[in-house]
Amino acid sequence: MKRESRLICWIWWVLIVTALFLMGFIIGWFAKPTQMNTENEKASSQYLREFLDEMKTDQIREHLRKFTRLPHLAGTEQNLKYAEQIKGEWQQFGLDSVEMVPYDVLLSYPNESRPNYISIVDQRGHEIYNTSLAEPIPPGYEDISNIVPPYSAYSAKGQPQGELVYVNYGRTEDFFQLQREMGINVTGKIVIVRYGKIFRGNKVKNAMLAGAKGIIMFSDPADYWAAGVQAYPDGWNIPGGGVQRGNVLNLNGAGDPLTPGYPAKEYTYRFSLEDAVGLPNIPVHPIGFHDAIHLLKYGFINDIANSTLFAMSRNMGGQIPPDSWKGALNVSYRTGPGFVDDHRTQSVRMNIHSDNKVTRIYNVIGKIRGALEPDRYVILGGHRDAWVFGGIDPMSGAAVVHETVRSAGKLLGKGWRPRRTIVFASWDAEEFGLLGSTEWAEDNAKLLQERAVAYINADSAIEGMYTLRVDCTPSLHTLVYDLTKQVVSPEDGEEGISLYESWHRRDNWTSDRDAPRISKLGSGSDFEAYFIRLGIAAGRARYTKNKKTERYSSYPVYHSVYETFEIVEKFYDPSFKRLRTVAQVRGGLIFLLADSLLLPLDANEYADSLRKYAERIAQLAQRNPEQMETYQVSFDPLFSAVQNFSVAARDFHERLQTLNREDPLQVRIINDQLMYLERAFIDPLGLPGRPFYRHVIFAPSSHNKYAGESFPGIYDALFDIEHSADQEKAWQEVKRQISIAAFTVQAAAMTLTTPA
Ligand SMILES: *[C@@H]1O[C@H](CO)[C@@H](O)[C@H](O)[C@H]1NC(C)=O
Ligand SMILES: *[C@@H]1O[C@H](CO)[C@@H](O)[C@H](O)[C@H]1NC(C)=O
Ligand SMILES: *[C@@H]1O[C@H](CO)[C@@H](O)[C@H](O)[C@H]1NC(C)=O
Ligand SMILES: *[C@@H]1O[C@H](CO)[C@@H](O)[C@H](O)[C@H]1NC(C)=O
Ligand SMILES: *[C@@H]1O[C@H](CO)[C@@H](O)[C@H](O)[C@H]1NC(C)=O
Ligand SMILES: *[C@@H]1O[C@H](CO)[C@@H](O)[C@H](O)[C@H]1NC(C)=O
Ligand SMILES: *[C@@H]1O[C@H](CO)[C@@H](O)[C@H](O)[C@H]1NC(C)=O
Ligand SMILES: [Zn+2]
Repeated sequence: MKRESRLICWIWWVLIVTALFLMGFIIGWFAKPTQMNTENEKASSQYLREFLDEMKTDQIREHLRKFTRLPHLAGTEQNLKYAEQIKGEWQQFGLDSVEMVPYDVLLSYPNESRPNYISIVDQRGHEIYNTSLAEPIPPGYEDISNIVPPYSAYSAKGQPQGELVYVNYGRTEDFFQLQREMGINVTGKIVIVRYGKIFRGNKVKNAMLAGAKGIIMFSDPADYWAAGVQAYPDGWNIPGGGVQRGNVLNLNGAGDPLTPGYPAKEYTYRFSLEDAVGLPNIPVHPIGFHDAIHLLKYGFINDIANSTLFAMSRNMGGQIPPDSWKGALNVSYRTGPGFVDDHRTQSVRMNIHSDNKVTRIYNVIGKIRGALEPDRYVILGGHRDAWVFGGIDPMSGAAVVHETVRSAGKLLGKGWRPRRTIVFASWDAEEFGLLGSTEWAEDNAKLLQERAVAYINADSAIEGMYTLRVDCTPSLHTLVYDLTKQVVSPEDGEEGISLYESWHRRDNWTSDRDAPRISKLGSGSDFEAYFIRLGIAAGRARYTKNKKTERYSSYPVYHSVYETFEIVEKFYDPSFKRLRTVAQVRGGLIFLLADSLLLPLDANEYADSLRKYAERIAQLAQRNPEQMETYQVSFDPLFSAVQNFSVAARDFHERLQTLNREDPLQVRIINDQLMYLERAFIDPLGLPGRPFYRHVIFAPSSHNKYAGESFPGIYDALFDIEHSADQEKAWQEVKRQISIAAFTVQAAAMTLTTPA
């Protein structure tokens, strides 16, 4: 008995211990992840702090100095050398892998033995005035060779001669005014337009459509001269001999003109030049305002009543333009056509000999492998190729990326590894039509559409000295606001206040909310293929000017030889604090997108934006109430879809509140819904006539590639509809576009609902 009871006692004891152990194990099993996830999130925010604090002004200064010593145009040896240097340094910084990815794309260069220029030609055909062949060299760079003279990349070759017609900015509305109100026909004429307001490629397209046989673009001080600022090198204004280079393609997102839709590899089939996408078929050339004065002056006085002035000022003839067509030069800005000098007609001749050439370019792609979700990619990409030195565009941005990589490498050294994979890209040939980034997007399209979480762009980090500028998809609004509250203002006298607060004071949202302004994405930089073709959430951030007081376009020395290291060091950011701030914003965005347990994307913000855009486009249509009635055009389905989207977004975020964050499958399901939300706005058929612009909510404006248009399909169908010859057909197209938009928004809403 005693022995038995002892045995039983012993068995009990074993059972209790085992049960306690199992209970502990079970409790531990469930409790541990909770702790783990909170611990992880705490560690992540500590790492974010260290990541941002590691970014140093001196380092950014050094990176910028190093990569702006020599001209590095796409396709040149020097740009390859910088690529190799970047690759080597990214490896040293500690990235898991870095590779060079080449493509062979169509580029365009001036002919070194036949310079491009424009002349005024007298009646005997003599060139009595020639525009300059190069910009005056900035001090300190006298010994540098390989500075490409100002030109319009992809201009057609040719030597057209004809009368000059001035068409303001060369916008769609300027040509409408010229043709419809002034009754001037530019067929067979050469047009001259000022740079600014819209992408130069759109000006060229408008000139071609109007029948011009050549187009000249100039930088007017009204658009490229800041008040009270000296010309470079004493200040940051453009000198009269400075010229804006740039490509004049109309690619509509195609990338390499010879391989639209496919990566430009060695084996890839190439179109002939005749079938290439987006090339202008007329000569195009840019000039500075010193040369513009001569052309505009020699232009145009036909005005006999004013003939006493002929001898004094040989001005362009034709109509006196409206005030909005007048720039800041001491000329009449008459429209032409033609000009009269002592009653003898003279004309202008363009001499353009540039060549298109298939050339090898190199992207540099660096990666940090994600610890838990290596198959989810967050991309930070910006270009490396520059027109000349690239002091601002793009190296102020490339220096920031370089510092971001260095700082990320430091964190890796401390044992950090992001949850998701981070991809860093140094793109080539952006200046030639976003070629490097688009080819890589084409090469990796299948992977990216399955796996890419977000793309953050890193072109020029600074274009002014005032405050932050952010353009992004609506789902990133909240993240941008949250992050900028964790970054400090770089401005002197604002010590201790956050970037958010500084930005808020300086650029208060104008309409519907009390928050700093965030704009929608247009195009003109490398995010285009990622956002508008593939539907990957995207954003960009840089330092900018004061929109209210500074009226000039972009920044005065844009794409000229005067974009040097010194212009940044002396004027734009002597302390390099503004660039560090931009590094912290761009870097902070990729950090949080890559390392947060739940993707920091906000569907409610998308809903708000959709409602705003729907109201705006419906209002636009309401300008034709009778036609709306006649053709029974209704926006009700679109508003219904937007309403459904809002409800789905709200419910989605409510579900997020109660999500079991410890359940990796639940987390992954939610994150996939967030990641694929942007993808849901893609229409595989693309917009009418623009197959590579596939985002139904956002596209570059058909009239200005730089600007974003919301509901672009509907917008374009409504554009100038009053002048459409076939009203019935035009309004049917509006109805079709409304239905596509309504369907797409509804389909996107469905992706946010409970999976089953
Ligand atoms: C440049 O012009 C010369 C004639 O001046 C011509 O022989 C040469 O083929 C041109 N170069 C290219 C690349 O077309
Ligand atoms: C313009 O250049 C052409 C070609 O080089 C030359 O013949 C002409 O004399 C030049 N005109 C002037 C005014 O320099
Ligand atoms: C402009 O002139 C061309 C040729 O002179 C002519 O063919 C065309 O119809 C004209 N365009 C308009 C809108 O009058
Ligand atoms: C003559 O032309 C000049 C310069 O374009 C202008 O300022 C002036 O008002 C004109 N005078 C008359 C009488 O039209
Ligand atoms: C503008 O040009 C006219 C004629 O060429 C000249 O007489 C006048 O002095 C110029 N004005 C300025 C402010 O340069
Ligand atoms: C922004 O503007 C709103 C409304 O105009 C105003 O109430 C708010 O105080 C302003 N915020 C800042 C930071 O200036
Ligand atoms: C929005 O949801 C309602 C209710 O489910 C549905 O009847 C309506 O068709 C939806 N709207 C669109 C445009 O699909
Ligand atoms: Zn750029």
